[in-house]
Amino acid sequence: MNTQDQLKKTVGEKAASLVQDGMKVGLGSGSTVYWLVRALGERMKQEGIHIEGIPSSIQTGEWANEFGVPLTDFATTKELDVTIDGSDEVDPNFQLIKGGGAALFREKIIAQAAEKLIIIVDASKMVKQLGAYALPVEILPFAWERTAYEIEKLGCVPVLRLKDGEPLITDNGNYIVDCPFEKIEDPVDLDQKLQKIVGVIETGLFIDMADSVIVGGSEGVTMKEK
Ligand code: A5P
Repeated sequence: MNTQDQLKKTVGEKAASLVQDGMKVGLGSGSTVYWLVRALGERMKQEGIHIEGIPSSIQTGEWANEFGVPLTDFATTKELDVTIDGSDEVDPNFQLIKGGGAALFREKIIAQAAEKLIIIVDASKMVKQLGAYALPVEILPFAWERTAYEIEKLGCVPVLRLKDGEPLITDNGNYIVDCPFEKIEDPVDLDQKLQKIVGVIETGLFIDMADSVIVGGSEGVTMKEK
């Protein structure tokens, strides 16, 4: 396991240790969340705690099944105690870029449903300013070129995300465009402008959602609170 993977494992396990018996937990997506779900399954077996999760992607649901974390859904549960998720970038105000794994729409739903959103990252994700990571935006396949044209007016050239040479289809049946803004001066303003474009389903900007960030770096794990 390389150093970055080791850090992802460490922060995933740290976040799992904060989950309490009886909690309903939003489970994010991505390689860091893999370690979270694994550690939650281990805690359930070893400590006998019981939790229920709602996954933000088909992949995370499969991990939950593999590691024995029971799942529920929003038909039976409307509020979550905590959501734990990775991120692609985190700025000093805890504004986030997410969606590298194409799961941003469901991730935002479980983030909003939770009393607390905890982000787990290795130190490379902490940035002074958002934007070096191309912002993922989920858009409707119908007239996607038209939607991308409107996004372009905001200052980037959106790139349709492909998989095996074909447009990547999200778990919700939509497309993703990756938007290389490079420097996002005002994430709140950009998010509002993107949300107004017809055809935009959801953006990868998570504004004022994160409460805590657990960061794994060379000097260990630190938990930053808002
Ligand atoms: C998934 O759509 C993303 O938002 C992930 O949470 C993000 O890409 C972080 O993924 P890693 O933990 O794999 O870096």
